[in-house]
Amino acid sequence: MLFEGEDKMSHYFTNEEVKSELRKINVNIGDKNFIFNVDNGVFSKKGLDFGSRTMIESLLGEGLHGKGLDVGCGYGPIGIILSSFFNLDIDMTDINKRAVHLCKMNIKENNVNCETFISDIYESVNKKYDFIVTNPPIRAGKKIVYDILFKSKDYLLPGGVLYFVINKDQGAKSVIRDLSSVGKVSILKKYKGFFVIKCIFD
Ligand SMILES: C[S@@+](CC[C@H](N)C(=O)[O-])C[C@H]1O[C@@H](n2cnc3c(N)ncnc32)[C@H](O)[C@@H]1O
Repeated sequence: MLFEGEDKMSHYFTNEEVKSELRKINVNIGDKNFIFNVDNGVFSKKGLDFGSRTMIESLLGEGLHGKGLDVGCGYGPIGIILSSFFNLDIDMTDINKRAVHLCKMNIKENNVNCETFISDIYESVNKKYDFIVTNPPIRAGKKIVYDILFKSKDYLLPGGVLYFVINKDQGAKSVIRDLSSVGKVSILKKYKGFFVIKCIFD
């Protein structure tokens, strides 16, 4: 069953004990090339995650404006790529210290207007945003995923939008059903089992 019984992975929490092996990867999106510093102990260190790529490509078609927040930013691909294409300021947060350290390096490496800081979900977030974007940490468990999605409402400006990606095997349909009770939910894209979802809260 979805979420239940999934082990918490160490890279979702602290990873000081994981040996560092810093390296760079290239990511091509549209006509742009990005370079990301990655390391052991962070999500999808071998390359851009397929779900994240599916959401980024879908949002490039959707168009974004205003100030954004990327929750669970990892080494920073979603926020950095969207910031670069739309020339937007995006804040990026993660609970994983190493991820935030890499994200800081990657903001400089890719020359974008972003900030990154450590936060357990929204604990250290003290602003409101025009949009929040996330590829949520499914393996951290349903409570954390639902907190990221449902509490985003409190960090969105009026008319603000939540965007996220989730796989059908990770409960996309039940998340859509549950969110529909508190907002207007639409599916921007369905691709190879991934759903890119937009939610505007009531
Ligand atoms: C599916 S990964 C996505 C990472 C990155 N956005 C990407 O596309 O490669 C989810 C991220 O959520 C982070 N995360 C897990 N629990 C968290 C929490 N309680 N608060 C904030 N971030 C968390 C993990 O460390 C991980 O980097």
